[in-house]
Amino acid sequence: DRIYYYSTIGSTNSEAKRLAQEGASHGTLIIAEEQTRGKGRMGRVWTSPRGTGIWVSIVLKPQIMPSEAPKLTMLTAVAVTEAITEKIGISAGIKWPNDVLIDGKKVCGILTEMSAETDVVNYVVIGTGINVNNDIFPDEIKDTAISLKIAAGNAVDRIQILAGFLERLEYHYKTAMARGFEPVLNEWRKLCCNLGKPVEIVTRDGSFTGIAEDIDEQGALIVKKTDGKFERVLSGDVSLKY
Ligand code: BTN
Repeated sequence: DRIYYYSTIGSTNSEAKRLAQEGASHGTLIIAEEQTRGKGRMGRVWTSPRGTGIWVSIVLKPQIMPSEAPKLTMLTAVAVTEAITEKIGISAGIKWPNDVLIDGKKVCGILTEMSAETDVVNYVVIGTGINVNNDIFPDEIKDTAISLKIAAGNAVDRIQILAGFLERLEYHYKTAMARGFEPVLNEWRKLCCNLGKPVEIVTRDGSFTGIAEDIDEQGALIVKKTDGKFERVLSGDVSLKY
C-alpha cells in the first residue's frame, strides 16, 4: 500500500480512481491539504479549504458483490464516528446513509465510487471528508455544517483523528471480510440517529415521508410510509430530510 500526499489536488477521489485504473494496490491512500474540485454526493461540491480538514480517499479491492458496496460506506461512517468519540470525547451520530453529525450538523461526508462487473468488484474508492479545524463555512452550508474545532471549542490535531479513523476502518474492514458485515451494521444501528424517527425521502421523481424503521442486510433503509406500506430505499439517488 502506498500513501500519496498532495498539497493541492482537484479531488482525491478522482485521483484515487485514476491510480486504481493504473493498477494501484488495495490500501492505497490519497490525501490532500486542499481540494479545488472536491466532490460531494449527487453531483454536489465538497468545500475543502487548505489545511482545515481531512480530505482522504482509499482504494480497496474487496471480494464482495457490487451490491454490498453501500455497506463499506456504512462501515466507514462507523469508523469516523468512533474515531471522533475516542479521540476528542464528543458524541457523534450517523444519519442514513453516511453522514456523520454532531449536534445535528454535518461534520463528515463519504463518497464511495466503484468500478465493477456484474458480479465482481474491480475496486472501490472510499472518499472521506472530515471538517476538523474549519472556523467558517460557505453561506449555503453554514447552518448545516460543523467542524470538530467548533464542536470542541479548540483546535483539533488532524493526525490524531486520521490515525484513529484508519485504525477503526482497518479493524471493521478485516472483521467484515472475515465474518461478514453484521457486527459493523449492528454498530451502525446503535450510532444511527434517525432510526425510529420521521424522515422525508427525496428522489428524482418526487418525495415521500414516513418513519425510518431499520436497515436491511444490504444497508437499504426501510421506511414505513404514512399509508402503512413499507418502502426499501437504496442510497443511490436519494436525499433525506428530517
Ligand atoms: C457528501 O456529499 O457527503 C460526500 C462528501 C465526500 C467528500 C470527500 S473529501 C475526500 C474525497 N474526495 C472528494 O472529491 N470527495 C471525497
